[in-house]
Amino acid sequence: MSSAMCVLGIETSCDETAASVVEAGTRVRSSVVSSQIDLHARYGGVVPELAGRAHLEQLGPVITEALVEGGVEGAQCAAVAATIGPGLVGALLVGVSHAKALALAWDVPFVGVNHLEGHLYACLLERPDLPLPAIVLLVSGGHTLLVHVEAHGSYKILGGTIDDAAGEAYDKVARVIGLGYPGGPAVDKLAASGDPGAVRLPRPLAGEDSFDFSFSGLKTAVVRRVAREPDLRPEDVAAGFQAAVVDVLVAKAQRAVVATDAKALCLAGGVAANSALRAATESAAVELGVDALLPSLAYCTDNAAMIAAAGWWRLQSDGPTSLDCGAYPNLRL
Ligand code: KG4
Ligand code: ZN
Repeated sequence: MSSAMCVLGIETSCDETAASVVEAGTRVRSSVVSSQIDLHARYGGVVPELAGRAHLEQLGPVITEALVEGGVEGAQCAAVAATIGPGLVGALLVGVSHAKALALAWDVPFVGVNHLEGHLYACLLERPDLPLPAIVLLVSGGHTLLVHVEAHGSYKILGGTIDDAAGEAYDKVARVIGLGYPGGPAVDKLAASGDPGAVRLPRPLAGEDSFDFSFSGLKTAVVRRVAREPDLRPEDVAAGFQAAVVDVLVAKAQRAVVATDAKALCLAGGVAANSALRAATESAAVELGVDALLPSLAYCTDNAAMIAAAGWWRLQSDGPTSLDCGAYPNLRL
């Protein structure tokens, strides 16, 4: 294997500044992530302008570290791939501009990558032989999608959220019960010591035929319940909320596997790091007799290895992206 098959991936869509070198779309040679959690924590969420400025400061050193650890010279790479959307525009622009400048200086192709396609490729990073078709439940801070992956680059979206994303609901509920940002990992941890049956909450759209989700009503139900019964134990609220989210997500993913006759059930996105969701997905896959793919935690949350992997496959199928390409905050899969 050679450096000529390495892609430098760059990710700056939200609050992680990341760079990675991946060989042939699957072999991770380096994956460096500089998190801005400390910067945004005191504001209770990501502050877009601060995110953009921090990317600008961090990206250079992060790329250098990824190249050194990956053992490649920039000019030997097959391409420089960067997330072009969806995400915060001021954050995306830093990565896209940086990637284009490097591609020009090194005289290698630039590849623009859809962040959501990146999350899908996180599944293939660790299981290049993943049996297809597969159902991927992509759950992050901004998205909740049920995707039917037929082949490389060929996806069908079966359903999505009609209001809040799953991660967004986690973050909001965390605030209601007094946990910090980011809320997902904190709720996950607290829920482990709670009783999931103590605070029964609604399962929105669970019984419906569609593959769509809705989490806004569940979040409101938590707010009302806590206001009405201030003595509820926060761990029971966390456990009850988590049980409701996981029940709905897994029930729909399971139905999607049956409906499409898929061979594997995969998780992707930041919420895929959730312990209850991982356990329930694994059991569902066993019950269905299909493969379960739960990416390592480092590849669930935002990282650049998934962007380099998606960039490699995009380069094979579509060739380089024009340097006229912009940053697209609302890009869809
Ligand atoms: O994919 P990601 O890193 O960024 C986006 O593209 O949005 O996802 C971040 C989201 C946040 O909402 C965070 O609270 C959630 O993933 N998250 C979790 C866990 N770890 C991260 N949610 C539930 N349980 C977790 N363990
Ligand atoms: Zn993401």
